[in-house]
Amino acid sequence: MVYSLVDIDAKSYDGNMVFLYGDEGAERNLPLGRREVELVKGKRAKGEKDFVVGFDRLPKRLYFVSFDSERGASEVQEGLRRRAMEVLKLMERDGVKEAGLSGEGTLPEEVAAFVEGLTLADYSFDRYKSRECYHLDRVEVSSMFLKEEELESQERLWNRIWWCREWVNMPVADLNAERFAEELEEVAKDLEGVKCTVMDRKKIESLRMGGLLGVNKGSVDEPRFVVLEYDGGARPESLAAGQPEKGRRPAGAPEEQPIVLVGKGVMYDTGGLNIKPEDYMQEMKSDMAGAATMASVVFAAADNRLPVRVVALLPLTDNRPGFNAYAADDILTMYDGTTVEVVNTDAEGRLILADAIAYAVKNYNPRVIIDAATLTGAAVRAISTFGIAAMQTNAEREMEMLKIVGEEVYERLVEFPMWKEYDELIKSEYADLRNCGTTPQAGTITAGKFLAHFAKDVPYVHLDIAGVAYFTKAQQYYRAGASGVGVRLLYAYLQMQNN
Ligand code: BES
Ligand code: ZN
Ligand code: ZN
Repeated sequence: MVYSLVDIDAKSYDGNMVFLYGDEGAERNLPLGRREVELVKGKRAKGEKDFVVGFDRLPKRLYFVSFDSERGASEVQEGLRRRAMEVLKLMERDGVKEAGLSGEGTLPEEVAAFVEGLTLADYSFDRYKSRECYHLDRVEVSSMFLKEEELESQERLWNRIWWCREWVNMPVADLNAERFAEELEEVAKDLEGVKCTVMDRKKIESLRMGGLLGVNKGSVDEPRFVVLEYDGGARPESLAAGQPEKGRRPAGAPEEQPIVLVGKGVMYDTGGLNIKPEDYMQEMKSDMAGAATMASVVFAAADNRLPVRVVALLPLTDNRPGFNAYAADDILTMYDGTTVEVVNTDAEGRLILADAIAYAVKNYNPRVIIDAATLTGAAVRAISTFGIAAMQTNAEREMEMLKIVGEEVYERLVEFPMWKEYDELIKSEYADLRNCGTTPQAGTITAGKFLAHFAKDVPYVHLDIAGVAYFTKAQQYYRAGASGVGVRLLYAYLQMQNN
């Protein structure tokens, strides 16, 4: 889809048009006939303010989007994203692929939210279909205060979300650890300021990453450990002199402590020898959504030259019950020397993440470590598909910031407690830790506790995205399948760093 900024006179525009209307004051300029005005006003008078109506302007169409601009900014913007999905459905029904969007009388961030909704709603996973798929081709956006650079940088972010969803939707047969690492390398090569290091099995063995190697044992495919580093320059307060030129570290400036992002990259989760029953296995191609999310965030930061230093650590493997597969009762020695009793081979995510988190602590002096992982079914049972289950140790401030930006972009977090009592549940009789709790209760928290052990004293945030990364059926402005939820959240968090 191509967007361009233009000036639209809503009354005389002769193409298909979407008209945003949130404010009674904009009434004079409504491109509506008398009866249409009555219809719209009638609905609003009855308190029904959020709706979409399609009007005939034969041979064209007018999509009138009414919204309540009196609510809080985040709610208004989220409403507009959802209305965009409704408009897109009508456009598909009408075979409309080009339209003007009039945001006259609305705020630039409202127009941007609507366009974002259109973009996210327009995504579908098409590469295996022979049939033609409907997509929007062109939208001419008219908004008094929306800046060209702003729209363009948003478009670059949306492009990264598109790729994130594509990777998550790809079946493991066509995207295993090796292939995914190659794809990431390809992308990084073309991006200024991004360094990509891919470690193969030999290298991972030499590093003694017992978690990643253990989970990989049953697989015929090799594991990979991918490191993406982007340095967009130091933060102002760590500079000897003045502001950095955006996206450049001034010569001699000290290296900034990075934000380290860790993403769970289980390319397919069969459960291993504790194989997943019946239809629980389906959709487990999405178990690498954390890794896809973190890679996409780094790429988006580089695309838009955000002045931050960020590193993504991505342990990649599938989890399979092959001949030599790791088994319950095995004891693994992790990168930092911690020993782990495997109680259930289906609790594999935390094993590969533990190595990555320990690797971050040892090698990067991180300002904060944040992981994203489709880690527990318990997270979905606790809060369904409406948000991210979050935990932190030594990172209250970072958690607060994430909650705030999460509300803003409507990728919301709810914080779970990390009470010391939970530590007891992951102590092992035979090793330092066990890879799942002694009881199934609080499964999301015991997973978080397990990971926090490897972060030591470093500020650490754990995001369990099991509920939001992949939707079994369409919701909000997402079709069924990968959502890319988490990318906008973490991008907004990075953007906030220098403000
Ligand atoms: N990848 C799954 C978690 C998951 C479940 C993600 C549903 C998305 C949707 C994870 O590896 C897993 O299998 N977790 C187990 C842990 C248990 C064995 C302690 C679970 O949640 O059942
Ligand atoms: Zn599992
Ligand atoms: Zn898993």
